[in-house]
Amino acid sequence: MSDAYINVFATGGTIAGTAGSATRRDYIAGQIGIDQLLADVAPLGLDMPLVGQEFASIGSEDITPQIWARLHAACVSAMDDTRCKGVIITHGTDTAEETAFLFDQTLPTYKPVVLVGAMRPADAVGSDGLRNFANGVCVVSDDAAAGRGVLLVMNDKIFAARDVRKARTEGTDAFNGFPRGAVGHVTPSSLEWFGPPWRVQEKVRFAFHEALPKVAILFAYAGMPADNVTLALDSGAQGLVLAGFGNGTAPAAVRAALADAVTAGVPVVRATRVDEGLVDREPADDDLGFIAARALGPPKARILLQLLLANGIIDPVRAQEAFDRR
Ligand code: SIN
Repeated sequence: MSDAYINVFATGGTIAGTAGSATRRDYIAGQIGIDQLLADVAPLGLDMPLVGQEFASIGSEDITPQIWARLHAACVSAMDDTRCKGVIITHGTDTAEETAFLFDQTLPTYKPVVLVGAMRPADAVGSDGLRNFANGVCVVSDDAAAGRGVLLVMNDKIFAARDVRKARTEGTDAFNGFPRGAVGHVTPSSLEWFGPPWRVQEKVRFAFHEALPKVAILFAYAGMPADNVTLALDSGAQGLVLAGFGNGTAPAAVRAALADAVTAGVPVVRATRVDEGLVDREPADDDLGFIAARALGPPKARILLQLLLANGIIDPVRAQEAFDRR
């Protein structure tokens, strides 16, 4: 396809951040606009034409459902253009995994959508932004990138949206994939996938909704009282995700309050506050009506539960099937 191009949708983050000095520790995210970013990228000699559009210039802690909705709509219409090879979204790393996962579940496309970010601002010594961006272009340009859902590219690694999580606050190797690790390795001049595409027969899983139901994450801690549950329900939560100890456990009084919530029609997902590890179903889940988060950490378990609620899927058996899928 000779007239193919890549859409670049900018949202801000450290990849667009500057400190004003190569050695300052503090910096401001989202300072470099899309035109400047594309001008910085031009000398890299990337093969594929890039068409830029700016959606926000924020630190990703300020991402909102409204920005998600505009970005999602733009991705959908980009995909409708046969010349569009795929989309790169520049994004802050702090919530990149949430945007990646939400779009992975709701974008009706086999074309690649790749999030890229940076851990070091654009004017820092050893800044990683342009390399991550060039790697993102390499991934989107590759025909074999199709059918892998939304991807996140950082530090020469390609991660699937479902697996990726920010694991470190500093350093360019800030992301891990669980349970799969990286699904590929990329440099500006090379690309290797570690296996075949896994989303070839399932374009989209859920309809996108801008206004998703409120779901609270309850972070477990020693001595956690049961009123954490009632406070969340009183604030209007329609679903609850427990970021529990170990294999998704909580103090007995909290578990009892969560079971009461299920009885009252509020779905409850047991996830873990531990960085990595499956939360598997246990026999008590059948009795109490809990859903096991499996490999999803609390932020992504929350998004999946929101999507299930928004799409009218409240039966715990069907909900569990959604959490079981890769
Ligand atoms: C952010 O998430 O916007 C700030 C941190 C980063 O991009 O690394």
